[in-house]
Amino acid sequence: MTLQPLFDYKILLKAILSKKNHTNKILIKSGRLAFNYIINDIKENNNKINKIILPNLICDEIVMIAEYHKIEVKYYNIDNELNYDINEIEDIAKDENNIIVLVNYFGFVKDHIITQKLKNNFIIEDNAHVLKKINDDNQNPFLDYSFSSLRKLLPVLSGAEVYSSKHKLDINQDSRFPDFGEMKYSLRSLKKSRIGVSKMGHSSNRIDISNYNIDIFSKLIINNYKFSYSQIALQRRKNFIFWESYLKDNEINFMRSININDEICPYAFPCYFTNDEKYNKWLEWGKSRNITIIAWPKYHKDTFKYIPDNFLRRILLFPVNHQFDLNKIIS
Ligand SMILES: Cc1ncc(COP(=O)(O)O)c(C=O)c1O
Repeated sequence: MTLQPLFDYKILLKAILSKKNHTNKILIKSGRLAFNYIINDIKENNNKINKIILPNLICDEIVMIAEYHKIEVKYYNIDNELNYDINEIEDIAKDENNIIVLVNYFGFVKDHIITQKLKNNFIIEDNAHVLKKINDDNQNPFLDYSFSSLRKLLPVLSGAEVYSSKHKLDINQDSRFPDFGEMKYSLRSLKKSRIGVSKMGHSSNRIDISNYNIDIFSKLIINNYKFSYSQIALQRRKNFIFWESYLKDNEINFMRSININDEICPYAFPCYFTNDEKYNKWLEWGKSRNITIIAWPKYHKDTFKYIPDNFLRRILLFPVNHQFDLNKIIS
């Protein structure tokens, strides 16, 4: 069982034969390039950005983009229930004209309240782990920009959406043929063993910011295929709840819980460990069962000094991919 959905050529075929049902989505290649696009958009009208303010629970791809812009990066703390302290962010941002990134981790969308003190900053909502309801174009009016990362929740090879209710986005929206890494990934569902995470040509050791374009297969699927948000979300919630009961009594700390009747569409089941032995044991358990459990996030080397030796270093994500029913896989 994989963390991210497996590409499905049947869906591509259906998409090719269907009529386009979305017209106004701004689609580019990936979440990190969406972030890069947004920073450029902000810089175009503001030549003095003081800092990029990130949570200390963040993957290296986002830090690499921030560093590429040669803007100072500061971090605020995330607690073990995935919350932040707005006073801490206000304090870091008191010089104004900063870019502040707020992450909706693992599909748990927060109603971010932007206080008066943060008004003269640019707020970006990172929805890389969130599946937006189809045609839901409402954005929290306090936020400047939001972006997603569609391949994390839908069976596509690339794709991220950028949206803003405050700023007019002007972006070239061409598409391209899938690259070698994406083609290889598209055949992954045929492979027997699926351990580890494939970066799908979105390698994090280098950032290729020259090509923003989404691949044509994914564009067709996102624009034409009618996914059922409620079915995807329901199966993901069932899988999430499966882990809650399967992992309880194992000295594993859960970060969030959900109810089967919630609206949330989780990206993964997050939990953390207080010792390395248990943490490594579960990683090995996943490998032996062909279930992709990942250590998250892969921190950037420059982020490490802001990571205390606590839960932040021992988070594992268990998969809730809706293409699988854990109740059938694990007995
Ligand atoms: C919170 C968060 N934001 C952004 C990204 C980057 O998204 P992408 O891989 O589509 O570039 C990731 C990737 O893992 C992420 O976890």
